[in-house]
Amino acid sequence: MSDELWTDVGAAEDLATRAVQEVTVGRTKIALTCKDGVFGAISGVCNHVGGPLGKGALDGDYVVCPWHYWKFHCRTGVGEPGYEADRVPAHDVKVDAGRVLVKNTASSTRAKAPHTPHPLARPVQREAGPIRILGISTTSMTDGHPRYSTSDALLEHALKCAAAEDACETRLVRLRDLSFRACEGFYSKAARACTWPCSITQMDADDQMDRIYEGVVHWADAVLVATPIRWGGASSLYCKMAERMNCIQNQETIANKHLLRNKVAGFIITGGQDNVQAVAGQMLGFFAELGLQFPQFPYIAHSRGWSAEDMENNERHVQESTALHDGAAALADRCAVMARGLVEATEGKSALVRGGRKGMRLDA
Ligand code: FES
Repeated sequence: MSDELWTDVGAAEDLATRAVQEVTVGRTKIALTCKDGVFGAISGVCNHVGGPLGKGALDGDYVVCPWHYWKFHCRTGVGEPGYEADRVPAHDVKVDAGRVLVKNTASSTRAKAPHTPHPLARPVQREAGPIRILGISTTSMTDGHPRYSTSDALLEHALKCAAAEDACETRLVRLRDLSFRACEGFYSKAARACTWPCSITQMDADDQMDRIYEGVVHWADAVLVATPIRWGGASSLYCKMAERMNCIQNQETIANKHLLRNKVAGFIITGGQDNVQAVAGQMLGFFAELGLQFPQFPYIAHSRGWSAEDMENNERHVQESTALHDGAAALADRCAVMARGLVEATEGKSALVRGGRKGMRLDA
């Protein structure tokens, strides 16, 4: 395209009815804006990960990217205050005989400011040390008003046994202690709009889902997830967490990047209604899609049937049940043993120093 060429992108009367729209000049996508009757034209490709600026919105003089809300001045292409070093190309635009003309060549160039990568974006590499088990409790309860939770209690017991009998390092995260936003459906905008680390995590320093990502992706060899059954499904906090893990699974499908390798998952499911196998099936399917592996008998469960509306007895039943506590401990053991096997297979047996009752300790 010649420097002198302009492209007719349409009738001014029609184009003025939309604050932001995407037009093409040759093969270049342009975000065409109209504010107070004045047209502006900047590149339609966002500096971040290529979001379509022409499908965004106008906030004052700034085009807001529809993917993760970066902003660029609608006429100069310069980033919003504080981010001026990020700039997308701007194009001259004029109205002639009722037609909007955009100059083919840009009047400014693209510039990308260096952005420090989020800590979660570092390569996934297992640090030497004992087998690590992350427990995730997903039951909900009101802050300051604790109650006995069967799933929570069995998870705590499982972790305690893994530490004592398998010499594992354990960590317990209760979702109810974290403040994190629901997935906002970035994947529904476009596959590439769902990023790793999660777009929300990168945008919102107060969002605490990074604790889960850090634990599952970078720290743990095995993950034990405990959930109550709520109306035949896993807990609402479990579902909220699972939705936010979409970014891990999407790395498999859109970037062929396997964030989770050689890790193990097991589940503790308790409830007042029978639907254990459906809940277990969902959890197994989901964590399999994330890339985790399962030991034989990958979950333990307990449930009261429809005819036993006596949850106070359910609590006592679980508290007094040797079978459930032994089952939780055995599940943790199976996960630890499998995780140890995977670590041995990938890092070499020389990395292991036999220690603890079941030889779970790794070289520091
Ligand atoms: S803000 Fe535009 S692609 Fe992320």
